[in-house]
Amino acid sequence: MAAKHPIPSELVAIFRSARRVAVLTGAGVSAESGVPTFRDAQTGLWAQFDPAELGTPEAFARNPRLVWDWYAWRRELVERVDPNPGHVALAALEAALLQRGAQFTLITQNVDGLHQRAGSRNVVELHGNIRRVKCSAEELVVESWPETGELPPPCPRCGAPLRPDVVWFGEMLPAEAFALAERAAVESDIFISAGTSAEVQPAASLPWLALDHHAAVVEVNPEATPLTPQATYVLAGPSGVVLAQLVKAVWPEAS
Ligand code: APR
Repeated sequence: MAAKHPIPSELVAIFRSARRVAVLTGAGVSAESGVPTFRDAQTGLWAQFDPAELGTPEAFARNPRLVWDWYAWRRELVERVDPNPGHVALAALEAALLQRGAQFTLITQNVDGLHQRAGSRNVVELHGNIRRVKCSAEELVVESWPETGELPPPCPRCGAPLRPDVVWFGEMLPAEAFALAERAAVESDIFISAGTSAEVQPAASLPWLALDHHAAVVEVNPEATPLTPQATYVLAGPSGVVLAQLVKAVWPEAS
């Protein structure tokens, strides 16, 4: 039976000779694990709230308890779910490339930690991690705090409210992480943009940077994005299916 998402043979050849591969992932890669994307309608308790309005410094200043509770709900949600075949395929891709002496960088906009749980090692988190907490005043990561019953809990050092260590709309990305991501994009022979709407800057600039530096850019997304017309290869389908298919086509023994 023919594969539903055939992988072009030139792409297979490019992968087999690649020295540096970079991947940018977005919420779509976690969708098959049951983590809603930002553009999906929220359900249940949080249906009336727009994530783009809860994940902002202004929302936290206005109603810190509401924002804390929303992230606590999302933290519990991601702890209950498992990595899906898309995460697993990217971990297998990294292992296969490293075994062949090539380099691999996984740049993610996701804050759920599912790539690491699937076994990915060289992960650059552009938007932080929902499991970490930091002080809203000093920005220092905090491991534990006194259980006063107050929510958000107070920073054990300065008493300011604690917040999730994620990048909110309107905030700067961690400079070191973005510099690593830019370098990986510039140096890549192949750049995969998977499960991202390719609209939220500055992460969305990375595939364009790779294109400017003559990488083959592969988009994996069931829907078209602003990148689609420029991508070198478009694999239109869910990442759990397409990425698994890709790894299998390139290194049948690795998957
Ligand atoms: N496989 C691949 N792609 C998918 C799948 C799937 N199974 N399901 C949905 N998608 C695609 C959608 O077509 C869409 O293009 O995933 C993308 C999700 O887009 P967004 O929700 O905009 O997520 P993302 O691109 O990660 O957003 C970037 O914006 O909201 C902020 O900080 C937040 O990190 C986030 C950033």
